[in-house]
Amino acid sequence: GMMQDQCAKEQRLIVVANRLPFSAFKGIGGDWKLQVSPGGLVSALTCVEGYSMTWVGWPGQYIEEGERDSLREAFAKKDCCPVYLDEKTTDLFYNGYCNSVLWQLFHYIALQQEGTLSETQTVQDQYDAYKAANEMFMKAVMTEYQEGDIVWVHDYHLMLLPQILKEEVPEMKVGWFLHTPFPSSEIFRTLPQRNDILMGVLRADLVGFHTYDYARHFVSSCCRILGLEGTLDGIENAHMGTITRVAVFPIGIDPEKWINELDTPSVQARILEMRGQFQGRKVLLGVDRLDMVKGIPQKLLAFEKFLEENPEWRNHVLLVQIAIPSRKDVPEYQKLTSGVHEMVGRINGRFGSLTQNPIHFLDCSLDFHNLCALYAVTDVLVVASLRDGMNLVSYEYVACQNKEFPGVLVLSEFAGAAQSLGAGAILSNPYNVNELSSAIAYALKMSDQERQQRHRQNFMHVKVHTAQAWGETFISELHDTHIEAALRTMH
Ligand code: G6P
Repeated sequence: GMMQDQCAKEQRLIVVANRLPFSAFKGIGGDWKLQVSPGGLVSALTCVEGYSMTWVGWPGQYIEEGERDSLREAFAKKDCCPVYLDEKTTDLFYNGYCNSVLWQLFHYIALQQEGTLSETQTVQDQYDAYKAANEMFMKAVMTEYQEGDIVWVHDYHLMLLPQILKEEVPEMKVGWFLHTPFPSSEIFRTLPQRNDILMGVLRADLVGFHTYDYARHFVSSCCRILGLEGTLDGIENAHMGTITRVAVFPIGIDPEKWINELDTPSVQARILEMRGQFQGRKVLLGVDRLDMVKGIPQKLLAFEKFLEENPEWRNHVLLVQIAIPSRKDVPEYQKLTSGVHEMVGRINGRFGSLTQNPIHFLDCSLDFHNLCALYAVTDVLVVASLRDGMNLVSYEYVACQNKEFPGVLVLSEFAGAAQSLGAGAILSNPYNVNELSSAIAYALKMSDQERQQRHRQNFMHVKVHTAQAWGETFISELHDTHIEAALRTMH
């Protein structure tokens, strides 16, 4: 009967996120090639399986009118539907409101009117472009949408989209998930467009966060700024007659993907090669997008302090920092890049020798294969985030350690992951250079037994709390919430 037909069909899922899982570039022959995009959102969501999934998102760059159709075809093969934004909108929306205003505010880099305003952009202009961009995403979703589809909207770029979608199709099943922290209401309330942004999100049936604290901050913001009634179960908008469910869904990775890759002969060969290259030295690793929220300067200062205070380690330890280029058109990111380059030069100049430098700093991303090998051979991963939604790099590192000689995780207490991997990691406050430096020293000297014991706890967590489980839980909760809402309107 009908039930069976419905069960047999795969649930259709439309994932809407600013960045598509693939970025386009022109191959030598002039045809489009697609490459996996960086960032935690993409790495987690691409692991969610079992749905008939379509992505709607921005291809990551300006595409000339004449190129759009051929690129659309390339993307369609990957179940992606590109949203083409013009250059002006991209600059005001993506560089401006998303990454100079919301990203910074959500990571406690407070709104400084002068600091965030470039000479040519006002926050109002940026917000107007944000609205226009959210409208364009809605139009793209509508070209894909069929009745019964689940529409899952992601992240701070698209906070008006749940409302805009519900205005089109009131019975649409819409969920929204934030991949960043949500700030305290004290910080959030400085945002000039605070009411509109909250109202935009509140039209979703289900709103999800990585941690309990972020959810609590969101609920408080709705209560204090909009005057609504709410608890952690949900927020009631008596005026609209709606209830928005709020819940916590900590994200994860696909650990098997890493574990299987580790076993391949080519990664094993790469591991041996790297071991040879690093011989005689312990290796600290950092893998971050080059972003101010990752605390890279703090990490470098702590490492410098460590070298200063532990002269016996000077030729026996190396910091490999992979700094994945990110958001290069945003002035704050440009300043950060030159700032960290200067620091690396200074520290290498101070502690380097004729044949060795204490820091290897790479402005690039690594492919899966090399990253996997690098995770496996390094002794300590240092995550120094000043604030970070979850931080999946720490999960990936844990997945790649062997049980006998596992590496150690030094983890900022301001990463969401501190709440899930706190038992096995060495937690540290990266704003305190001395404390982070001591954490590094402790990690380097840790006994095998303690390393194994800490690793076991982390590994168990990473194994169980996967991206797949995260996706399934969110989607089934969205189903239930939507049914409850339908029953409510019937009564
Ligand atoms: C974070 C955000 C994602 C974003 C990623 C990469 O993980 O939560 O939404 O895609 O960073 O940043 P980008 O600006 O390059 O998309």
